[in-house]
Amino acid sequence: MFTLAHLSDPHMAIEPQGLQLLSKRGLGLINWRRKRGTIHRRDALDALTRDVKAQNADHIAVTGDLVNFSLPAEYALARDWLDSLGAPRDVTVLPGNHDVYVRGAEPMPARYWGGYMRGDDGLDRFPFVRRRGDVALIALSSGVATGPFMATGRLGARQLARFAEALDQTRDAFRVVLIHHPPRSPLPRYLRRLTDAAALRRVLAEKGAELLLHGHDHRASLIWLDGPAGRRIPALGVPSASAAGVHGAEGAAAYHLFTIDRQADRAAHCAVTLRQRGVDGTIGDGERMQLF
Ligand SMILES: [Fe+2]
Repeated sequence: MFTLAHLSDPHMAIEPQGLQLLSKRGLGLINWRRKRGTIHRRDALDALTRDVKAQNADHIAVTGDLVNFSLPAEYALARDWLDSLGAPRDVTVLPGNHDVYVRGAEPMPARYWGGYMRGDDGLDRFPFVRRRGDVALIALSSGVATGPFMATGRLGARQLARFAEALDQTRDAFRVVLIHHPPRSPLPRYLRRLTDAAALRRVLAEKGAELLLHGHDHRASLIWLDGPAGRRIPALGVPSASAAGVHGAEGAAAYHLFTIDRQADRAAHCAVTLRQRGVDGTIGDGERMQLF
């Protein structure tokens, strides 16, 4: 039995100042003061972090938007938080759009969070693969800098080609794909979609995977994607790890806890439980769902 905790989108923020505002960050600050800043709270994140650690999961995945404005001080803050969560070999991290919020920020996540964003081969590139027991974690990067009012993501043809190879090479394992953006977005989220999501779904339909985990939408979700030979792949989104729960639609801070049971002579079983912050601030078990 392998346990995997999945959390996402803590949006640890430090407000930009002065010249830092002469970019997309200026508009971002208006949005932060009007809305986001009241949603994402450090005390909510700290309570959730304590609960995640108490679960003693075999591995923890963090699928992006660790920071909000891509400022150096934020990356350092997020690094401290990662260190409190676990060692780089036990925690897998990938960037979201807010981690590459402005042009020029692209190298920053790797600079600050490097050890958490590297595969078993030690190379600094996406996708990267980490094998832990019977599980293969395959991490994609969809974080790209975009213009104002946009929060799209993109994988690109090269990363998708390597992704197809990685899925082939890990066919013997329980393959968990990690990505910030969801593999399918409804029309109202068109400006926040993964622009090459159709190409991602084609690779998954051809090569297969056992599970896909994403963030970005700040809500718990489950859709089933087509896999090869009529099999289906569950794709799960998770709420933000720092949401105070003051805005109903965003949901309160939560994370998913997966149990993966895969023994050589039997089919894999996978169940998921949502652990979420309640109105009194305590973290409790939500529904447990047997995925397969
Ligand atoms: Fe995002």
